[in-house]
Amino acid sequence: MNATFPLAEFPDYRMSPDQIPETVCEILDDVSRQKLKKKIKRLLIEQNAIMVAHYYTDPDLQLLADETGGYVSDSLDMAKYGNESDSKTLVVCGVRFMGETAKILNPEKRILMPDLDAECSLDIGCPVDDFTAFCDEHPNHTVVVYANTSAEVKARADWMVTSGSAVDVVRHLKEQGEKIIWAPDKFLGEYVQEQTGAEMILWQGSCVVHEEFKALELQELRKKHPNAKVLVHPESPAQIIKQADFVSSTTGIINAAKEMDAMEFIVATDNGIFHKMQQAAPGKLFIEAPTAGKSATCKSCAHCPWMAMNSLTKLAHALENGAHEIFVDPDIIKKAIVPINRLMDFSKSPQQLAGDA
Ligand code: 13P
Ligand code: SF4
Repeated sequence: MNATFPLAEFPDYRMSPDQIPETVCEILDDVSRQKLKKKIKRLLIEQNAIMVAHYYTDPDLQLLADETGGYVSDSLDMAKYGNESDSKTLVVCGVRFMGETAKILNPEKRILMPDLDAECSLDIGCPVDDFTAFCDEHPNHTVVVYANTSAEVKARADWMVTSGSAVDVVRHLKEQGEKIIWAPDKFLGEYVQEQTGAEMILWQGSCVVHEEFKALELQELRKKHPNAKVLVHPESPAQIIKQADFVSSTTGIINAAKEMDAMEFIVATDNGIFHKMQQAAPGKLFIEAPTAGKSATCKSCAHCPWMAMNSLTKLAHALENGAHEIFVDPDIIKKAIVPINRLMDFSKSPQQLAGDA
């Protein structure tokens, strides 16, 4: 039976600390790392496979993707790249929704992941039955979901957006007179609402990494680094976003590090991004925005526990054994491709291109 949600009783889908896995990164000696990398390079060629990695994954995986003609990017470009490459297999180093989006866009390809348990608190916090019931209760709304959702949730949506496109899409919908259901990230939803003035009902999910950034400690850190610019991912709480010099997707944050004049940056997003930021802007200083700190109350301490599940050892295993393949029901693919293609078409539209200029 479907749940019903009068707004006042709307459930909070925040994960409790004991539901969040520990962030455990693989530690290897140099000889083992080099051996594994060599093996993975051989397997990629043998299997006609290509790697696609998110900026939050281990630097070794990002380097390997770059060295083997693969791609390192944000969630949207990872999916688009799969479409452009003619390899038969895509190995998606990231979290499950990224693998599913790659499969929806490339149903003829084999999609492998190093670890199928690599989830995302936003995806976990938006179960399809509850979400469907919620949408059904608000029939005159356009349903906009963030990329960080399951294929089934996307199949119930009118639009999919990413952090880099959410404001533009919602502004466009507002101009059409649409009222919006937004899911699952309440902080990104609040930010989009504030930027666009759209009428939005927000699902109450959150990212376990970004919600841990601490506003008062950030104020203190800014005083210690008065010349530092503050770069913030919009999954962060409003009190963090308020202190930002620049709010953007992961790709936007990396570009800002390169393009902005400053030599110091305080960065409020997963610290896996520092690898690409240092590559993009060598010589500049990047400082983590404060969480409660290791051995204190933070669980992720600015590194996503699920992104950390991607490792060289698991990648080699997946490629060698064809393990951890992503499957999505063909009927779900048919429905989920619609909101994804709306975004793809929107990002190519003259209106959007003009906005980008
Ligand atoms: P981006 O699309 O900005 O890479 O964000 C994905 C994500 O999971 C951020 O936590
Ligand atoms: Fe999900 Fe947050 Fe991890 Fe991104 S960083 S994959 S939003 S839990």
